[in-house]
Amino acid sequence: MKFSPQFLDTLRDRIRLSDVVGRHVALTRKGRELIGLCPFHADTDPSLRVVDDKNFYHCFPCGANGDAIDFVVKVEGLGFVEAVEQLAAEAGLEIPRPDPEEERRWERRATLHEVMEAATVVFEDRLRSGEGAVARSYLEGRGLDEDTVRHFRLGYAGSGRTQLRSALTAKGIEPALLFEAGLVRRPDDGRDPYEVFRERVIFPITDRRGRVIAFGGRTLIDRMPKYLNSPDTPLFSKGRVLYGLAQARQSATRDGEIVVVEGYMDVIALARGGMPNAVAPLGTALTEDQIVELWRLAPEPVLCLDGDAAGRRAAGQAAARVLPLLKPGHSLRFVTLPEGQDPDDLLREAGPEAVRRLLSGSRSLSDFLWDFEQQARPIDTPERYADFVDRLRARVRQIADATVQQAYRDSFERRLAERRGERRGPRSGRGWQAWRPSPPGSEAARTRLSPAFAEKQQQRAVLAAIAVHPVLLDEFGEALGRTGFRDPDLDRLRRAVLEAYHDAPGLETATLDLHLSGLGFGEGCGGLLQPATLRHASFARPGETIERARTGVRELLARLHRHQLEVELAEAKRAFAEDNSEGAWERVNGLRELLQSVNAGSGSLEDVPEREDEDHGETGTGTI
Ligand code: UTP
Ligand code: MN
Repeated sequence: MKFSPQFLDTLRDRIRLSDVVGRHVALTRKGRELIGLCPFHADTDPSLRVVDDKNFYHCFPCGANGDAIDFVVKVEGLGFVEAVEQLAAEAGLEIPRPDPEEERRWERRATLHEVMEAATVVFEDRLRSGEGAVARSYLEGRGLDEDTVRHFRLGYAGSGRTQLRSALTAKGIEPALLFEAGLVRRPDDGRDPYEVFRERVIFPITDRRGRVIAFGGRTLIDRMPKYLNSPDTPLFSKGRVLYGLAQARQSATRDGEIVVVEGYMDVIALARGGMPNAVAPLGTALTEDQIVELWRLAPEPVLCLDGDAAGRRAAGQAAARVLPLLKPGHSLRFVTLPEGQDPDDLLREAGPEAVRRLLSGSRSLSDFLWDFEQQARPIDTPERYADFVDRLRARVRQIADATVQQAYRDSFERRLAERRGERRGPRSGRGWQAWRPSPPGSEAARTRLSPAFAEKQQQRAVLAAIAVHPVLLDEFGEALGRTGFRDPDLDRLRRAVLEAYHDAPGLETATLDLHLSGLGFGEGCGGLLQPATLRHASFARPGETIERARTGVRELLARLHRHQLEVELAEAKRAFAEDNSEGAWERVNGLRELLQSVNAGSGSLEDVPEREDEDHGETGTGTI
């Protein structure tokens, strides 16, 4: 008998894990966890931890872990079904009778998985057979080595009309299943069924876990279409899947970075070039499902689409589609490739370093939209300008999340104001206002938006606002003290500012300037009051009210803090994966909770709990 996942979820919600465990083990509370002697090994020192709200228990010394159902299975020696029945009875839940229809679908899928796996092996073997020589030399010509071919399980579908069918039926697979798996088709005109993939290099498409669910095939004989995908089947629906996800998942979560490219070959070429965290949609624009899937791996996936009209259109569609889904901290970034190039070409012509450089110069979504609307139509009359403004505002209204929407509104309105300033010509002698934005798409405009660069800009902006209003340190001194900056020069400046404040609370800009120049920092509070800095921090400009400066500093510090925690968490996870130690696990948990509370406080620093109770050492400096 099988239970529906929904029923099992309800059951898990209904029972309290500590009640179940508590029947066998005496538990004592320690923070959000309960601890007790582990029943799975000879435990002397309580090492079993039970976390009720995660329905999860874990024992470090012996490695036992699981949920309530599996605790009952292990401790009470019940089968899974019996354990569920017992827990359901205790929770007063009625077990829904399995829906026979659902049950059949489920089994069908399992069978189809087997069929797809068998077909993959047939294609792989064929690539290595005599007939596969043509495909092998094609792949070699495209720069793929044997390891890469194996890693992506590439194959070849030969020219015969019944090859796959005979190979699979010889393995005992029913012919009817081949239709359902999308491998064989029956023509409408009643002629003999034919195999879908012939004379094509085969790219197996997998689910998240790496099980093959469909195939893509590239023709070797210039037949249309160039790439052919499996039709949708019970296992495969094109808009939900990303090619290469199973292979990219690990490095993407580890680095918090994922790149979206257009084609199969781009994914493979990037992996071969040392960038294994790339995926591709299957010849369509990114769907909502795919965006959500990407966000599970990294908060700001980078779209790296071809430098042609189709690529630009696809980028525009993705931008439009993501707006309603945006949430704080989550977005897309955009890289524009040189006209007529895809990542595969670029990699071959300019090497991995060039691709990396390009990726690190990605543009934010807001910059992308601004440029997109600015370039869409001329803005040379009042009416056309008004249309431009309307289009920007219409974009902003598409954003469902209130915080993000407001942030976009602020950003666009500020830029429009700047643009109006620019129209009227330079207002000389007015400090930052003399500055003009570099034209969109220029090298300067692109590089200044790389994540590392953006982070530095934010950090400089915080310091700039503080240089203008040193009194803000009364409120933010402590937060600034524990937020280390990665860039050593900037961090020195940060510490110098804090030092000045400690020496002379209540100091003013002029005093701070004196102190900083005494330490050898440049003019204008170590450059903080230069137009180049202030242009990225309108809230910090001398003409702004202290309220705006305060809001700006609060938001940016919260964002930087959150980022610092995310980086530390990623590191802690890596450490835990390596040594599995309890200390590392505690650090992961501690950071995760901290991050949750920071997020729950929607970035307001006042809500950040003190970290004194954490035992993972220094967080104050140098580790962003
Ligand atoms: P491209 O034609 O840009 O692919 O299509 P590519 O990777 O550059 O091709 P080659 O092998 O280097 O010549 C990009 C993606 O669009 C989908 C495929 O997913 C492909 O990888 N596509 C393209 C189709 O689904 N059908 C087609 O006929 C062409
Ligand atoms: Mn290509």
